[in-house]
Amino acid sequence: MKNVTERVESDPAIVMQGGLAVAVDQQIAMNADVKEKVEPVENLPFAKKIRKETSQAHKLAESTNFVKGILRGVMDMESFANMQAGMYLVYEAMEEELDRHKDHPLVRQVHFPELSRTEVLQQDMQFLYGDDWRNKVKLTPVRRKYIERIRQLGEQNPELLVAHSYTRYLGDLSGGQVILKIARRSLGLENRDGLRFFDFDEIEDSKSFKKEYRNRLNNLQLSEIQERGIIEEAKNVFALNQSLFEELEGSWIRALANCLPSIFKRSQRA
Ligand code: HEM
Repeated sequence: MKNVTERVESDPAIVMQGGLAVAVDQQIAMNADVKEKVEPVENLPFAKKIRKETSQAHKLAESTNFVKGILRGVMDMESFANMQAGMYLVYEAMEEELDRHKDHPLVRQVHFPELSRTEVLQQDMQFLYGDDWRNKVKLTPVRRKYIERIRQLGEQNPELLVAHSYTRYLGDLSGGQVILKIARRSLGLENRDGLRFFDFDEIEDSKSFKKEYRNRLNNLQLSEIQERGIIEEAKNVFALNQSLFEELEGSWIRALANCLPSIFKRSQRA
């Protein structure tokens, strides 16, 4: 089976449609539902369980107006840079905690240094904001809440970091690749500059990598309570990502509202 990027590449009709990835995702979810109907969720391997149990949260996260806008190709450089600034802050915290706990019996199973995004995000920030990028990356209320949760888990409950790793990295290797294609087109970025975050150049084949990642999830030695804890945390991570999008939508609308008076004046002068 082709991966998402290949499917998007080989089916230009999908890209033309507004809800492209939603359609791809719905198909996958439908297929999964058909198989999983015969098997009660508690008997499923953990990777299938977490996917199934978070599918609703996934749908909500990708149904925000900001994401819908991205998928329709409505994206400007400023809001893209702002979105990626949030990613930079989140990944910096998440990868610091994953590294700190790389010998933890559960975290170590999903610790893949080749996935690390902090360094490439720094390069993207430099490209998108210039040398002064550190002063331009702002800690918003949702970003702060997300990072505080990661730090809290790093201190008190590192096994739940597995949920953070799963939700972000498998997402980046899936829907992230769809966003890459659209961002490239909408922003007119031709090479990797500004888009390195989406480019997992140390992962040769994302499909087999995701398979390996899911095997690791299936091989985690988890009690029922631990399974539940990781699944609930993954839902929480989806919700945090949804809030990140909603916050971006708010700032985009404010920016537009700020421009309106000058647009109005210009139209009066004309
Ligand atoms: C732009 C919006 C999004 C699109 C278009 C999208 C699309 C997709 C697609 C097509 C897949 C299936 C890939 C496959 O099985 O090969 C997928 C899986 C996934 N996505 Fe998204 N997604 C979006 C947003 C998100 C967000 C915001 C998150 C969370 C941060 C996320 C996390 C995940 C995860 C964890 C998976 C793997 C599920 C599994 O197989 O266990 N996605 N996404």
